[in-house]
Amino acid sequence: MSDTRKTYIIANWKMNFTVGEASLFLKKLSDKITPARDIQIILAPSTIALQPLSLQVNRREFKLAAQNLYHRDFGAFTGETSASQLRGVVDYVIIGHSERRHIFGETDKDIREKVAASIRNNITPILCVGETDDERNFGETDLVLYDQLIGGLSEVAAEDISKVIIAYEPVWAISSSKDAKLASPEEVSDAVRRIRAHLAHLHGEKAAKAISILYGGSVSPSSAGSYLMTEGVDGLLIGGASLIADQFTDIINISKGLKS
Ligand code: PGA
Repeated sequence: MSDTRKTYIIANWKMNFTVGEASLFLKKLSDKITPARDIQIILAPSTIALQPLSLQVNRREFKLAAQNLYHRDFGAFTGETSASQLRGVVDYVIIGHSERRHIFGETDKDIREKVAASIRNNITPILCVGETDDERNFGETDLVLYDQLIGGLSEVAAEDISKVIIAYEPVWAISSSKDAKLASPEEVSDAVRRIRAHLAHLHGEKAAKAISILYGGSVSPSSAGSYLMTEGVDGLLIGGASLIADQFTDIINISKGLKS
């Protein structure tokens, strides 16, 4: 965790919870969690729950994120939700999650357009990058990270680059992956160092220092502390454990303890 960059703890609920369940869960979290100034807690429910939760949420406690968006602002795009429609409802959007890349076939071009649309609409993009197990085994991690960063960020203007948040999500460590493994803090620190070096190369040292890089891959209360203490890691993007109120609260308390 850095002294200068904010810490982000993000709950990616994926396609879980009905609107009623999401609302009850938010109520439970609000009862358990007291906000801390330098920790930003972000909840990413399904699209259908965003509007009702935006009316319920205390934005000093929690911000909302969409899990995806479509890059065009309006038009004949059945089933899609645009950044301009999400504007005012969410402050953040997760873009290029590995499930979007691998299950829904999103390309770097799609992701680049989504990042640009979110910035155009004043929504902070959380760009996910990460290698698969095979890519790691073939020694391609560095190249994959570089390609995904250049692929996702090449349309971002220099003055906007520090608005982006990066989440390093090794696909092989995400709990939904077959045979998911726990990443060691050394593996995470090595990847985060590479990401920051690539950002420095592509966008300059100043931007690379300003950009928050999160870790997201099977984080639980027992592993959260070691990832948060890993050099260069500015927070966590949490899937499974964010669906269990006690676990998510424990992770937030761990991050508060480390920050104070
Ligand atoms: P997980 O998911 O914590 O369940 O591994 C992380 C993510 O996919 O964002």
